[in-house]
Amino acid sequence: MTDNPAYMTGFGNHFSTEAVPAALPVGQNSPQQVPFGLYAEQLSGSAFTAPRAENRRAWLYRLRPSASHAPFTLYRDAPTFAPPTPNRLRWLPLTAPDKPADFIDGLTAYAANGDPAAQTGVTVWLYAANRSMNRAFFDADGEWLIVPQSGRLVIFTEMGVLKIEPLQIAVIPRGVKFRVALPDGHATGYVLENHGHPFRLPDLGPIGANGLANTRDFETPVAAFEDIDGDYELIQKFCGRLWTAKLDHSPLDVVAWHGNLAPYRYDLRRFNTINTVSFDHPDPSIFTVLTSPSETPGTANADFVIFPPRWMVAEHTFRPPWFHRNIMSEFMGLITGAYDAKAEGFAPGGASLHNCMNGHGPDKASYEAAIAADLKPHKIEGTMAFMFESRLPFIPTTFAMETPLLQRDYDQCWDNFKKAKSPK
Ligand SMILES: [Fe+2]
Repeated sequence: MTDNPAYMTGFGNHFSTEAVPAALPVGQNSPQQVPFGLYAEQLSGSAFTAPRAENRRAWLYRLRPSASHAPFTLYRDAPTFAPPTPNRLRWLPLTAPDKPADFIDGLTAYAANGDPAAQTGVTVWLYAANRSMNRAFFDADGEWLIVPQSGRLVIFTEMGVLKIEPLQIAVIPRGVKFRVALPDGHATGYVLENHGHPFRLPDLGPIGANGLANTRDFETPVAAFEDIDGDYELIQKFCGRLWTAKLDHSPLDVVAWHGNLAPYRYDLRRFNTINTVSFDHPDPSIFTVLTSPSETPGTANADFVIFPPRWMVAEHTFRPPWFHRNIMSEFMGLITGAYDAKAEGFAPGGASLHNCMNGHGPDKASYEAAIAADLKPHKIEGTMAFMFESRLPFIPTTFAMETPLLQRDYDQCWDNFKKAKSPK
């Protein structure tokens, strides 16, 4: 497979692509004899009977059927969880691994909600890896939203190759096999494992037909495959645990495919940021890149929200994020720069968690700077924070609560706010 891939543009399109001319059957999905003797296999990402607008599937034409493997045995147990906590939490960046760790061994779970078996909620992982995978992985528990913080990733998937760097993201659908190479020899970042409905673009309402993440900026790889015989390990995540199986070939052997269930990448620098040009900070839903809906309209299983570089022009307005208590719960990360509500203490590669109904907002220093600021047009530059927001409270893992990376003095950033003048 090339590491200089080509892409097809658009979000959720029905693509047809072949790495070898004439490998894709014409006019039917499952002919009696597939070109080159390839094996036809349907990968469905929705129930067969899902409404047409929700229906996702791909037909893969491969060197061997996916069914051809030895039994899976347990590789790693599920993360353990601490008791739920209402407390606001923040972590220093995940440290580099002290032994060889590929993308899978370099994953650490921080928080989760819902239940993979019930296809609800999410699991939040941070990764710190120092070598390329020489095995493949797929997740039966959900799709992966990968947010690099340092180091480039080359993601070799069954359906083609995605290259991403910090400020780009990749989404790998539930079940799609892939391996991750690290051209820089190291990588850190975040993974949102989405157990619920697949990510889609948010509705735009009165914004109109354009804006936020535009459909043409999403890129899906053209078909590419590797023809490798010999021992190969396949890891899968199933009902919270990791499992391993031996193959006698690379499972990234799809020569051609068609359908609308496919991995894609997106460059966050292309986000068309919309904000006030008069007064008051809009709700941060204005910064939603992707949303995983729940059964309740407008109430996301998970939203992926970014805080990109942007002009601040609001008049007579407190410009940073205001104090708030939300029904949604928020797990935040920082790719680069400084976040405008927390100029200090929230480091690139770090993370924070603010659960349902618990007050948070600007720290004291950011607040005092904002109420004293001369409100000229001002450009926030060189920053990219993001939020994984969910309707369900996040339960931290045992690791997240016990690690020395947890900033146990985090609450102090809201200490010593001066009391307002009493109106009495
Ligand atoms: Fe918040």
